[in-house]
Amino acid sequence: MEAPVGSVAVHTFSAHAHQGGNVYQSMDGHHVNAMTGSQSGGEDTTRIAASATSDFEDLSEGHFYDPDADYEPDPEYAATLAPDAARQRRERIGPTGRPLPYFPIPGPVTDHGPAKVIAMCNQKGGVGKTTSAINLGAALAEYGRRVLLVDFDPQGALSVGLGVNPMELDLTVYNLLMERGMSADEVLLKTAVPNMDLLPSNIDLSAAEVQLVSEVAREQTLQRALRPLLPEYDYVVIDCQPSLGLLTVNALTAAHKVIVPLECEFFALRGVALLTETIEKVQERLNPDLELDGILATMYDSRTVHSREVLARVVEAFDDHVYHTVIGRTVRFPETTVAGEPITSYASNSVGAAAYRQLAREVLARCHAE
Ligand SMILES: Nc1ncnc2c1ncn2[C@@H]1O[C@H](COP(=O)(O)OP(=O)(O)OP(=O)(O)O)[C@@H](O)[C@H]1O
Ligand SMILES: [Mg+2]
Repeated sequence: MEAPVGSVAVHTFSAHAHQGGNVYQSMDGHHVNAMTGSQSGGEDTTRIAASATSDFEDLSEGHFYDPDADYEPDPEYAATLAPDAARQRRERIGPTGRPLPYFPIPGPVTDHGPAKVIAMCNQKGGVGKTTSAINLGAALAEYGRRVLLVDFDPQGALSVGLGVNPMELDLTVYNLLMERGMSADEVLLKTAVPNMDLLPSNIDLSAAEVQLVSEVAREQTLQRALRPLLPEYDYVVIDCQPSLGLLTVNALTAAHKVIVPLECEFFALRGVALLTETIEKVQERLNPDLELDGILATMYDSRTVHSREVLARVVEAFDDHVYHTVIGRTVRFPETTVAGEPITSYASNSVGAAAYRQLAREVLARCHAE
């Protein structure tokens, strides 16, 4: 079955589409406001809050859960992220200990593309790469951005997280990489999230790592495969596997930006030096446009001193590279994998959904500021 999205024809995965996931927050625009130039993630929160007031006057209440729709962090959201929620509200101190800028609700876009490509990358396993790719993608899509998620892990966890059974797929990102003449339209799946498509993967992709070694321009294979798709999307998010092998180097070569999720636990920073070294090498030799967009603290629990200490260390090490948005630890995320849908639709009013919406706004504000 084919359904046109923009000018890209995409397949729906009707055979194994998840059930009951079709209730979405309305994106009819009346809770979406135009982004004003002066609000793009600046530090002057007083000025921003003042100028924002007039923009949000006609927002309907309670229609769309948003962490700072009242120009304050939502109390529930704040409570999970700050040891002293009252102080956070008063001083707008974010969980990273820095003043929390106001990230405006992004305005609607009429023109799409060319896409910014973001690689979600950390060679450490289980740090929240896949969860962040799915939910950042879904939050960007909710804000009207056209999003392509690329599952670039032979485990296929991103595909599973969107309700696709990777074992049943005949064509995956592997075919797109390895077969000349294969068009992306044949591999693309339309997800249940409006505005969001998927290039799925399965275990076949593990063969690519070996087969690519003998290819000409082996590091640019994904970049070449994605090029025809870029005009159709605003954001392409690549979910990397937990390694720094050839597949990850391909993702970094295809990307404009890297997001590094870090789990807030003791060994979080171990191996990050190797990762930043790899990013720098790709920058020097293969992709001068590549930038580290940010470090994303995940699985944060403000109730433990340990989590707070780790986050403080991460901020000390990476400073402004650390996103103001921090993802708290909640059992809702493992639940969404079972449900096969993003948290923004599975538990739209949850703290986790709010956190990824806020991350989407921070990422958009950073892109807008460039
Ligand atoms: N904020 C969170 N709170 C609680 N659990 C989480 C959170 N984020 C992710 N998880 C869970 O942690 C596990 C690992 O997350 P995820 O698969 O996103 O990590 P990953 O970095 O992609 O792992 P891998 O390196 O294996 O690909 C999953 O079970 C996921 O549901
Ligand atoms: Mg993963």
